[in-house]
Amino acid sequence: MPDHRIYPPTSVNYTLAAKYLRQGKLVSFPTETVYGLGANACDDRAVAEIFAAKDRPRFNPLIVHVPSLEMAEKYAYLDFTSRQLAEKFWPGPFTLVLNKKPDGELSDLVSAGLDTVAIRLPRHSVAQQLLRQFGGPIAAPSANRSGRVSPTTAKHVEEELDDRVAMILDGGPCDEGIESTIVQVSGQEVRLLRPGSVSPREIEMVAGLPVKAVTAADTPTAPGQLKSHYAPRAKLRLNATHVLPDEALLAFGRNIPHTAGPDTAGAVRNLSPSGSLKEAAANLFAMLRELDSMNVETIAVSPIPSQGLGLAINDRLQRAAAPRPENTPAGDKAS
Ligand code: TXA
Ligand code: MG
Repeated sequence: MPDHRIYPPTSVNYTLAAKYLRQGKLVSFPTETVYGLGANACDDRAVAEIFAAKDRPRFNPLIVHVPSLEMAEKYAYLDFTSRQLAEKFWPGPFTLVLNKKPDGELSDLVSAGLDTVAIRLPRHSVAQQLLRQFGGPIAAPSANRSGRVSPTTAKHVEEELDDRVAMILDGGPCDEGIESTIVQVSGQEVRLLRPGSVSPREIEMVAGLPVKAVTAADTPTAPGQLKSHYAPRAKLRLNATHVLPDEALLAFGRNIPHTAGPDTAGAVRNLSPSGSLKEAAANLFAMLRELDSMNVETIAVSPIPSQGLGLAINDRLQRAAAPRPENTPAGDKAS
């Protein structure tokens, strides 16, 4: 009998699942749309595990699942219209992109460095019980490998992820099978970022505002291509094997180049002194922000191996290093 990771939703198993989440492990759980691959949304390392498990070559922002509207408000601002939508469509297959509160508790990796966060309160009883038992926010993309279809049974999840997930809570087949509707209220319109079973018509009825479908080019599936995506104000110099006197350094591994001129003494962060790509992914956005806030002109970045999570790290760094159009104000952050 192969090692079996599928567990029925009993109270003992909810307790175990919540314990795994607290330990930074991954737990897959059903929602009414698809199965999610969950991690503690406040734990950078655990969120990095999600990207590693999915073989995602990029850091897409993830949906944060919460057990209550109150918890959503702990992490994000709800404008009037977003609140109306939440009251109508939560719990359910509906996700709101909201401005993040700046208390820094949510992992920066969850929102891929954006100043916004996608939040959902699912209706499925197993998801709700797990969220209540855990008592915190759970980051969860669909529980499939990158580039494959979203799983709608526990068995699918096991086939996709095998030993990359500590536990799969079995809630039977998902009712809906398509991912949640994602919207963002923006001024006098509601932007539809991803269509789902909550229709534009229903949203318009509640919001009293027009719903505008946004094209793929406007959505942050490719972070960094999006105008509003977090881009550091400083220039990045990649694959740096030495550091100039006025540069900050984002290092990786043990053999870090000798630094730093008197101007930038202290402007050094190491993504992972031990050379762990998971640790580096977990630290990436927070360290970029820290160095960027020190008002240096250039951040030298040590070479990062292009394998596993290193692919996603390098993708993000290359986007941050790419020249920006002249008319984009430096430091133009997410709206
Ligand atoms: O039904 C669902 O929504 C499932 C279940 C597990 O909740 N989750 C899901 O997650 O489909 P995922 O990671 O496969 O898709 C999340 C989508 C991505 O397209 C991402 O770009 C978008 O949400 N997203 C997340 N945060 C965002 C943000 N701050 N701004 C705009 N889009 C965001
Ligand atoms: Mg997905």
